[in-house]
Amino acid sequence: MSSNNPNGFKSVLVTGGGGYVGSALVPDLLKRGYHVTVVDVFWYGRDVFDDCNGHPDLERIEMDIRDGGRLKQALRGVDAVIHLACISNDPSFELDPTLGKSINYDAFAGLLQGSIDQGVRRFIYASSSSIYGVKEDPDVREDAEPQPLTDYSKFKLDCERDLLAHSGVNGMERVIVRPSTVCGYAPRLRLDLTVNILTIHALVNHKIRIFGGKQLRPNLHIKDMVRAYHTFLEAPGAKIDREAFNVGFQNRSVEDIARLVRDTLADPTIELEYTPSNDNRSYHVNSEKVKRVLGFETRYTIENAIQDIADAYRRGLIKDPLTNPVYSNIKRMQQLGAK
Ligand SMILES: NC(=O)c1ccc[n+]([C@@H]2O[C@H](COP(=O)([O-])OP(=O)(O)OC[C@H]3O[C@@H](n4cnc5c(N)ncnc54)[C@H](O)[C@@H]3O)[C@@H](O)[C@H]2O)c1
Repeated sequence: MSSNNPNGFKSVLVTGGGGYVGSALVPDLLKRGYHVTVVDVFWYGRDVFDDCNGHPDLERIEMDIRDGGRLKQALRGVDAVIHLACISNDPSFELDPTLGKSINYDAFAGLLQGSIDQGVRRFIYASSSSIYGVKEDPDVREDAEPQPLTDYSKFKLDCERDLLAHSGVNGMERVIVRPSTVCGYAPRLRLDLTVNILTIHALVNHKIRIFGGKQLRPNLHIKDMVRAYHTFLEAPGAKIDREAFNVGFQNRSVEDIARLVRDTLADPTIELEYTPSNDNRSYHVNSEKVKRVLGFETRYTIENAIQDIADAYRRGLIKDPLTNPVYSNIKRMQQLGAK
């Protein structure tokens, strides 16, 4: 089977494809007929693509993106890169800031140059809506002044800037994606993200601890995250080249999300326990641009994400959710002594 991509892209390389987003995205790319190369150190397990085992269009390369020589080889013949590989939250970045910078920032230059040298036609960069920092404005659009509050967010922004400033890109189209916090079930599940963690605590402990609660958080269902990457692969170059897009949905307070969890699970015995917090930082994004320019609209809700996780838990697909380090980036990196 061959993809029907309107730009003629047939081969996609996904860095970090063995992570939470990648584990949902890669099987979907295969379904749509792409040849997919996954480049990953597979910190969260080599079994994430067990359902795709033997797929003729799946190439798994266990390697570190900091290995520029091997990376260049992997990029040969690739039409589009989706760059997800990352130490992907603040606490795990801060475990070892030197390691964090080497992966999240230093390796970016090599990946970018390698992509240009190998004639990659489109480069899709997974940045984050956290580059905006905390804003009073309830509608943070793409042209808002970025105010990253942590090194994780600062290096996301630095990569964005390097991507846009790079000269001699040989016609390679570059697009920046700033997703909100993703939620819902995927083969490599993260339970260190707001909706997912509240849901699993409700399921296992029948209790949700809420710190503060008034803080707003933008959310995005993982299936919409995957759909968004398809949109960025299929969009005409003129609409996305050198553009940044927020991709978010449902700005909700943590307290609201906790109530949604209780209501969606239809279990009135779930207790909501409030602890005051000084951290009342709210993050809100406006994602009208991706709708206006590319016609992308979300289809899935926070309730869908809660239900999907509950179904997976009840089917025994989430083993020891509160103690198994594989569900928590920081715990898993501590366990591995990642270098
Ligand atoms: N999940 C979210 O809520 C969210 C929100 C905004 C942005 N993002 C961004 O989207 C991307 C994917 O997020 P995720 O939740 O899937 O993260 P994840 O941590 O689940 O996955 C990251 C993957 O990168 C791999 N990796 C890390 N360092 C590597 C290296 N040096 N070489 C090769 N592979 C390496 C890991 O093994 C892992 O499989 C990240 O860039 C993240 O910053 C995610």
